[in-house]
Amino acid sequence: MSVLNLSIEELISKTTDLPALPSAAIQVMKEAESSNGSAQSVARHLSYDQSLTARVLRLANSAYYGLSRKVKDPQEAVVVLGLRCVRSLAVIAATYPFLARPLRGYEVSPESLWQHSFATGIGAQLIAGEMKTASPEVAFTAGLLHNIGKVALSVWLENKVVGMKDIAERANVGFDQLERQLFGHDHAEIGGYLAESWNLPSAISEPIQFHHRPSDAKVHQSLADCVHIADAMAMELQIGYSGEWPCYEFDREALVRQGIDDQKFEELKAEFAKAFAKHDAMFKESAA
Ligand SMILES: [Fe+2]
Ligand SMILES: [Fe+2]
Repeated sequence: MSVLNLSIEELISKTTDLPALPSAAIQVMKEAESSNGSAQSVARHLSYDQSLTARVLRLANSAYYGLSRKVKDPQEAVVVLGLRCVRSLAVIAATYPFLARPLRGYEVSPESLWQHSFATGIGAQLIAGEMKTASPEVAFTAGLLHNIGKVALSVWLENKVVGMKDIAERANVGFDQLERQLFGHDHAEIGGYLAESWNLPSAISEPIQFHHRPSDAKVHQSLADCVHIADAMAMELQIGYSGEWPCYEFDREALVRQGIDDQKFEELKAEFAKAFAKHDAMFKESAA
């Protein structure tokens, strides 16, 4: 495969063909990080986007929440389910069209990428909440979006005959290393850049940028740790696939910083598997 010598701007330029993240969802993600987000403003942002609202309400009315009556609008959903929950549902509903797509060149199916992304979000949320080291809500969004850089890169790999997986396996190198050789940048770097270009807060873009190298993260290291550990757990549990396993370098310093020993790691992994199974059932039911 020939080497592309392009700037990050050029590399992400083709993503204009991809479905954009709805601006209502971006506002909701931004507010999750700031302290001034209110139930009213989340409901208001959502009300500007009818299709996003419809998807959020479908998720809210799934059997998972077991509501005795159906919620009919975002305002009501916030009252019944709480602000945090509705924010997360908005993020799920908004990112699904972006993440449920085939990653050409990586040989990843839409279902696998979505499952891996969703699982990493749920795992990062669980770790942040359990270890009390970061905002669970922000960890969820960063985890969910951690591999968006691959979506941007796969557009360049669409008509290539040799897949990244074959080359990576033969050379026994990680995908990120291979990406740097081919594109001059890896998917983590590109993902962080893409998140910034959508005006997402640095609490989301930095963990995306450093999800493979959390020890290098500067301001939001705990969030990067949570995403990194959740990513590894999702791979160990083989939930979905995103074209990284088995060439994945795990940074054990992330565990040390989060205060997770071997026993806690196993406990978290078991909880993670259960939490994912429940959320996946909710998602499948509402998507059906
Ligand atoms: Fe990655
Ligand atoms: Fe991943």
